[in-house]
Amino acid sequence: MAYDVVVIGTGPAGYVCAIKAAQLGLRTAVVEKMATFGGTCLNIGCIPSKALLHASEMFAEAEHALPALGVSVGKPKLDLKVMLTHKDKTVEANVKGVEFLFKKNKIDTFRGTAKIVSAGKVSVTGEDGKATEVEAKNIVIATGSDVAGIPGVKVDFDEKVIVSSTGALSLAKVPATMVVVGGGVIGLELGSVWARLGAKVTVVEYLDTILGGMDGEVAKQMQRLLAKQGLDFKLGAKVTGVEKTKKGASVTFEPVAGGDSQTIDADVVLVATGRRAYTDRLGLADADIKLDDRGRVEVDGHFQTSAPGIYAIGDVIRGPMLAHKGEDEGVALAEILAGQAGHVNYEVIPSVVYTSPEVASVGKTEEELKKAGIDYKAGKFPFTANGRARAMLHTDGFVKILADKTTDRVLGVHILGFGAGEMIHEAAVLMEFGGSSEDLARTCHAHPTMSEAVKEAALATFFKPIHM
Ligand code: NAI
Repeated sequence: MAYDVVVIGTGPAGYVCAIKAAQLGLRTAVVEKMATFGGTCLNIGCIPSKALLHASEMFAEAEHALPALGVSVGKPKLDLKVMLTHKDKTVEANVKGVEFLFKKNKIDTFRGTAKIVSAGKVSVTGEDGKATEVEAKNIVIATGSDVAGIPGVKVDFDEKVIVSSTGALSLAKVPATMVVVGGGVIGLELGSVWARLGAKVTVVEYLDTILGGMDGEVAKQMQRLLAKQGLDFKLGAKVTGVEKTKKGASVTFEPVAGGDSQTIDADVVLVATGRRAYTDRLGLADADIKLDDRGRVEVDGHFQTSAPGIYAIGDVIRGPMLAHKGEDEGVALAEILAGQAGHVNYEVIPSVVYTSPEVASVGKTEEELKKAGIDYKAGKFPFTANGRARAMLHTDGFVKILADKTTDRVLGVHILGFGAGEMIHEAAVLMEFGGSSEDLARTCHAHPTMSEAVKEAALATFFKPIHM
C-alpha cells in the first residue's frame, strides 16, 4: 500500500511534519531507528538538558540565592541519582507523548534504518536484519545531526570520561574537574550544569569570544556572569589533542595567535565543538541526492532535494540547527505537500541559550547590521532598573533592541536575563508583523513584570525610557 508521505526520522522536524501531514489528510508513515521517538532533542538533547539545567539551577539557588531572601535551608545536599531520574522521567513522558500523537493521527510507524531505494521507495532494515519496503509518493529526509567531533583531532568518546553532550547528560558522579572543549551553546549549558553541582569547569574556545555569532555585547556580559559563577575561560585557544590518562583525560591546546601549547588534566572532558548533518546509510548518492560543501542535503525553497519527490528538513539541511526551525520546516513542507502555501520566515527564528541567566535573541545582531551597512539605532534597558527583577534578585542582564534608523522597524532583539527565553517571543511576534520600536513601546505591559524591561528598551530605542 502506498503512502502519500513517509518521513525518515522522528525528531522535532520529522514528527511535526508527519503530524501536520496527517492532519491535512495525507496518508503518512514514519521510520525511526532509535528505540524511542523524538530524535536527539527529546532523547539526548533539548529536553533532558533542560531537566538538568532546571534541577541544577534550583540546587545552586538553594545555596546562593535563598539566604538573601531570608530562606535558610543550610547547605543543600545533592542526590544526583534522583536528579538523573527526574531527567529520565521527563524524557520518557515526552517520547511517549510523540508515540501517542502518532496513534491519534493514525500515522504508521516503522522501526529500523531507512535507505532510499529510489523516488517513491524506502527500504527499512530492522534490528533482526530483515528489510521491509515502504512505498510513498513523497519521501521526507529528517535525519537530523550528530556530534561532529574536532576537525583533525582524533577523539575517542567513551561517554564516561571523554563525553559528548550525550554522556554529559548521564555522568554517574559529579567530576571534581571538567574541561569543556567549545564555548558554544552545548558547552555553556552542560558546563553550567556540572559547575553548579560542584565541578571546577574550564572552557577552551577557539574564538576570542564565547557564543560566537551572538550579539557581541551580550556574549561579553554573559562571559562575565559565568566567570562569576566559577567557570574558567581559555579563549583564542585551539584544541589539538584530547587523550585519556590514568586518572581522567587531558586536553592540549595552543593559542590561535601562535605560541606554546598547554595541556590541562580533568576528570571529565566534554567535547562540544558543533554537530554535522546526519546522512549515514541513507543511500543518498545512489538516489542522486546532492549534498552541499558542508555535507548537508541541498534543498530548494520548497525543501525539495535534487531528486523529485524527495524532500529534506531540519538539521540535515542549511540553517541553524534548532529544533523549532526544524518544526516550522516540517509544518511548511506538510502544507506544501498538501497543495497549500507553506512558508518559513528565516528572518524571525528566536534562539535561546538556557544558562543562568538565559540569553535569547531574534533577528540581526549589531555586528551583522554594521557588516550589512544598515543604518540602525539601539535602545537598551538594564534589569537593575526593573522593579520585579529587584524583587526577585534577578537583576543581571539587559534588553537591547535594534531598529532601522529611518523606518523604526525592529531588526533585532537581544535579551540577557532571567526568563529571557520566554520574554523573547513578544519581540518575535512584533517582528513577524513588521512592527516598530514605537509599536512595542506603546503596547501596555503588565506591572510589575520582567517584560517591562522590553517595553523600556523599546522606549529607549524610539525616544527615551521612563525608568532610567
Ligand atoms: P556550537 O557551534 O554552538 O559551538 C561550538 C564551539 O566550538 C564554537 O564556538 C567553536 O569555535 C568551538 N570550537 C570548534 N573547534 C574547536 C577547537 N579545535 N578548539 C576549541 N574550540 C573549538 O556547537 P555546539 O555547542 O556543539 O552545539 C551544536 C548545535 O546544537 C548548535 O548548532 C547549537 O545551536 C545547537 N544547540 C542549540 C541549543 C539551544 O538552542 N539552546 C542547545 C544545544 C545545542
